[in-house]
Amino acid sequence: MGSAEMTGSEGMAGSATGTASVGGRPAMTAKLAGKGLDIGTANILAAVRDQKGGIVVRCERNAFLDIQGDVHSRSMLTRLNVPYVVHDNSLIVLGASAFELANVFGRPTRRPMKDGLISSQEKEALPMMQMIIKKTLGEPCVPNEPCFFSVPAESVDKENNIVYHQGLFAGMLQKLGYNPTPMNEGHAVTFAELAAEEFTGIGISFGGGMVNVCVAYKTIAALTFSVARGGDWIDGNAATVLGLPSSKVTFIKESGMDIRSPKGREQEAIAIYYRNLISYTLQNIRNRLAMGRDLPSFSEPVEIVCAGGGSLIQGFIEVFREEVQKVKLPIPLKGVRLGKEPLNSVSQGCLVAAVSSME
Ligand SMILES: Nc1ncnc2c1ncn2[C@@H]1O[C@H](COP(=O)(O)OP(=O)(O)OP(=O)(O)O)[C@@H](O)[C@H]1O
Ligand SMILES: [Mg+2]
Repeated sequence: MGSAEMTGSEGMAGSATGTASVGGRPAMTAKLAGKGLDIGTANILAAVRDQKGGIVVRCERNAFLDIQGDVHSRSMLTRLNVPYVVHDNSLIVLGASAFELANVFGRPTRRPMKDGLISSQEKEALPMMQMIIKKTLGEPCVPNEPCFFSVPAESVDKENNIVYHQGLFAGMLQKLGYNPTPMNEGHAVTFAELAAEEFTGIGISFGGGMVNVCVAYKTIAALTFSVARGGDWIDGNAATVLGLPSSKVTFIKESGMDIRSPKGREQEAIAIYYRNLISYTLQNIRNRLAMGRDLPSFSEPVEIVCAGGGSLIQGFIEVFREEVQKVKLPIPLKGVRLGKEPLNSVSQGCLVAAVSSME
């Protein structure tokens, strides 16, 4: 199956101390224990350590396609060289392969999550997600290996049930042999990106289903929240005004456009909704900061780091800076920057936290 494998360039915050041979495995394996898992609406990413002390991030699309389990379909998948698993008499194609096949069939993929959480319309999709998670995470390298996994914060603009979502994935990871700990998604961004600022500042993850925000003070999450809008919201709204399928808009958006200089009607619609999402997120940050409850008083100017797949589009950080000027945040600001590897930040932050928990 076509899962991307990317090597992270970031250094580690520390290394785990376990050196004993566990379950007959070599001591080296125990030394590399601790994993980070980013469970997202669009993508699932696992960050693990390699033998050289670097980070490897494995990514898979959080989607699948189910096909009737007859002989004809089986031979077709074999002919096309598409890997599949058999589940309840259906043939299941997972992840990126499902997207490729969906294009051939002209059929949408099924997506287990919506707006940052497990979808109520896709309850039977949990075993598929478990397979994707198992594939990216691999086997635990020691029994009960610590695994920090990302969870969204409660949304300011939608009732959502984080408790159920969190409990579900904690249970799933336990079944896979891990010792799971939930970690707020925005908090994970600050762990991955704000080491130079002593883990003080604002981390934002622009995802497919949500935008997650965390204001951190010396590693502690002082304020977390989410807005229930993300890349899917941009695609869905632009699709409605353009009279196009959402998938077409996603394709145009990801094909290398610049939101500062959109070309044509389609790109213009995407750029309008992008700017609106950034502005909406910043207004919510300003409102929450202005409430001031439970907030540390920042003596130094604060850095904002943006991550997540939504921040990859060209012109993102420039538009974000323009909108920051307009919104007037009630704290002194040092700067605004993109994460070093924006798509990997959350999984890497979860890994840093997992490793730190073992020291
Ligand atoms: N090059 C790109 N340009 C623009 N958008 C992109 C690009 N690559 C990915 N995206 C968008 O990023 C989003 C997915 O980002 P990400 O993987 O961070 O989300 P997620 O973590 O799965 O979702 P969530 O955190 O909301 O549950 C999608 O909306 C996708 O269209
Ligand atoms: Mg995410």
